[in-house]
Amino acid sequence: MKKIQISPSILSADFSQLGNEIKRLEEGGADMIHVDVMDGHFVPNLTIGPPVIKALKKHCSIKFDVHLMISPVHKYIEVYADAGADIITIHPEATENLGESILKIKSLNKKVGVSLNPDSKLNLITNYLEKIDLVLIMSVNPGFGGQKFMPEVLSKVRQLNEIKSNKNMNFDIEIDGGINFDNCQSAIEAGANILVSGTTIFKSNNGDIKKNINLLKLK
Ligand code: DX5
Ligand code: ZN
Repeated sequence: MKKIQISPSILSADFSQLGNEIKRLEEGGADMIHVDVMDGHFVPNLTIGPPVIKALKKHCSIKFDVHLMISPVHKYIEVYADAGADIITIHPEATENLGESILKIKSLNKKVGVSLNPDSKLNLITNYLEKIDLVLIMSVNPGFGGQKFMPEVLSKVRQLNEIKSNKNMNFDIEIDGGINFDNCQSAIEAGANILVSGTTIFKSNNGDIKKNINLLKLK
């Protein structure tokens, strides 16, 4: 069983203090930083891009888990790799050729993740599982933090985990959206080993990041 890792989403951070916020996450025991990149086209929200990632990277020594909710995504992969992404996660619907985009990320020596929206079927990615480092299962429709967890995606996590153990594969299973202290255990039991959380980590227990990260890990 892989160690449970926490990847806090900075989408719920104070955007006027992002440098300090990621320092708080690192000091609070985050395993990596989940950076939600949105283009207002693939998802109905617009967040940050390469220059901000480059600037933030200087303030942080843990990995940047960059979730690209942008399309078309292929032609932007290199600029996010150069900006400092360590893991680059893309959506299959955002590229014309998922296999080529996966190869592109690997050619830049970055970890490659593929993300499935709640309505996206596992068969979109089953042929690529041997080539990727991470599957990001969305438990909300992407675009905004603070949304309600969709428990129906846990069956997808369980199916994915079954394929992973039957074929003795080693990719990480990350779950993203509405993760809190009440549902994190069922996500872990279903097979997720990386939890993304924004609202719960930044807003619970008066914003005690260290306490909230530990509570998610220990549940
Ligand atoms: C949504 C993002 C998620 C989200 C998580 O499109 O991909 O990472 O910000 O935030 P919470 O934990 O608030 O749902
Ligand atoms: Zn995300």
